[in-house]
Amino acid sequence: MTKINSLRGMPDLYSDDLISWTPVEKKLEEIFKSYSIKELRTPILEYTDLYKRSVGDTSDIVNKEIYSFNDRNDQSISLRPEGTAGVIRSVIEKKLEQQQSKIWYMGPMFRYERPQKGRYRQFHQAGIELLGYEQGQSDFEIIAITCSIINDLKIKDAKIKINHLGDSNSKIKFSQALIEFLEPFKKELGAKDQDRLEKNPLRVLDSKDVNTQKILEGAPSLNNFISASANKLLDQLQETFSSSCAIEIDNSLVRGLDYYTGLVFEATSKNLGAQDAFIGGGRYDNLSSALGGKNLPAIGLAIGIERLISIASINNTIEKKIIFITSTSNIAPLAFKIANQLRSSNPSIALDMDLTDSSLKAKLRRANKTDASHAIILGDEELSNETVIIKSLKEDIEQLSLSIEDCIDFYKKI
Ligand code: HAM
Repeated sequence: MTKINSLRGMPDLYSDDLISWTPVEKKLEEIFKSYSIKELRTPILEYTDLYKRSVGDTSDIVNKEIYSFNDRNDQSISLRPEGTAGVIRSVIEKKLEQQQSKIWYMGPMFRYERPQKGRYRQFHQAGIELLGYEQGQSDFEIIAITCSIINDLKIKDAKIKINHLGDSNSKIKFSQALIEFLEPFKKELGAKDQDRLEKNPLRVLDSKDVNTQKILEGAPSLNNFISASANKLLDQLQETFSSSCAIEIDNSLVRGLDYYTGLVFEATSKNLGAQDAFIGGGRYDNLSSALGGKNLPAIGLAIGIERLISIASINNTIEKKIIFITSTSNIAPLAFKIANQLRSSNPSIALDMDLTDSSLKAKLRRANKTDASHAIILGDEELSNETVIIKSLKEDIEQLSLSIEDCIDFYKKI
C-alpha cells in the first residue's frame, strides 16, 4: 500500500515544533488585549468573489495562489488567503460599519506559493483591524502596536518601513506616470514585470529583478504625487516612533494587495533570510464600500506567525514531568484516583501515566530514558497498603515510601 503524505508546503506541527508557539500566541493576545482589541473568529472558507473584490483580480494572491473550488452547490468558494476581507465581510453582515471597532484574529491562511524557508502553503497569521477611524490617530496606533510586538517579543535587527500610497486619485496619477516611464523599457523587463506593468503597474516597484531595480532608479517617485499632509504623516510617524523602534520611509514599498490606500508598512528582520517581512499592513478606506457596505475608513496589520516565531526571543518554561507507574497484574482504580488528586494539587506538572501492559521493570527502564524527574510507583505491595514509592530518575538517592497524603504534599512542592 502506498503511503499518503502531507501536502507540499503544509507541514504538521507537533510537540517540540510547538514549544515556542504557545508562549508567542499568548504574548500576542496579551498585547492585543492591552490595546483593548476584541477577538473575532471568521470561517476559513468564504465565497471566492470576496477575495476578487478585495485582495484584487490582478493580485498574485487571487491570480495564482488562491485555493478555489466549487462546492456541491456549484458555487466557487476559497480557502482564505488572508484575514482582512473576511473581517470586513463579517462587520458588514453584522451591520457594524457605522461604529468603531478594534478587532484581532488568529489562524491558518492558505496560498499556493512556491514553498521555501519562511514561505508555506498553509501558514498562520495574527491580525488586527482598527475600523471606523479616519487617517490620523489610528495610523499612529497601528505603528505603536507594531513597535510593541517588536519590543515585547525582543525581535533583533527589526526595521519598520513605511510609505503612503495617497488616495485613489493620486494612486491613479502615479500609476500613469510610472507606465509612461516604463513603457520605453518594456522589452528589457522580465516576463513577470512586463505582466505586472500591464495588469498592476505599481507592483513593478516591488520587483526583485536586479535589472528592473536598476531601471527604476530613474522612475518618478511616489512622494511627488501624494499630498503634503501625507508626506507630513510619514515624517511625524518616523519622528514619534524612532526612539522606540527602527523606522524608515521607503517610497518603493507598495504591498501586494489591491485594497490599500494611504499608509502602508512592513516590519522586516535581517535574520529571516529572503522572506524577510514578518508584519505587513496598511490603510484600506475603500474596502467596505467595495464589498457592498457603508463607508468605513480602516487600517490594519497581519503578523506571519511562523516567521515571528523563528526570530522571537521568548523564554520557554521547561515542562516538569513525572511518570506514574503501576504494576501490570492489576488495573488499579486506585492509581487513577491518586493520579487525579495529584494533577489537581499541582496542574503545572505533566503527570504521564504509563498505559502499557509491560512489566514494572520495563516501565522503569522506559521512564529512565525520558526527561521526567521522578517516577511514582504503585506496585502490588503499595496497592495493598495504600502507599506509593517516589523514585528520583535524575539523582542517585534513596527512594521514598510515602502515604498518599504525603505523596500529594511532596507533589505540590516539586
Ligand atoms: P500580507 O503582507 O500578505 O498582508 O501578509 C502578512 C504577513 O503574513 C507577511 O508579512 C508574512 O509574514 C506572512 N505571510 C504571508 N504569506 C506567507 C506564506 N506563504 N508563508 C508564511 N508566511 C506568510 C496581509 O495578509 C494583509 N491582510 C495584512 C493587513 C491586515 N492589512 C491590513 N490589515
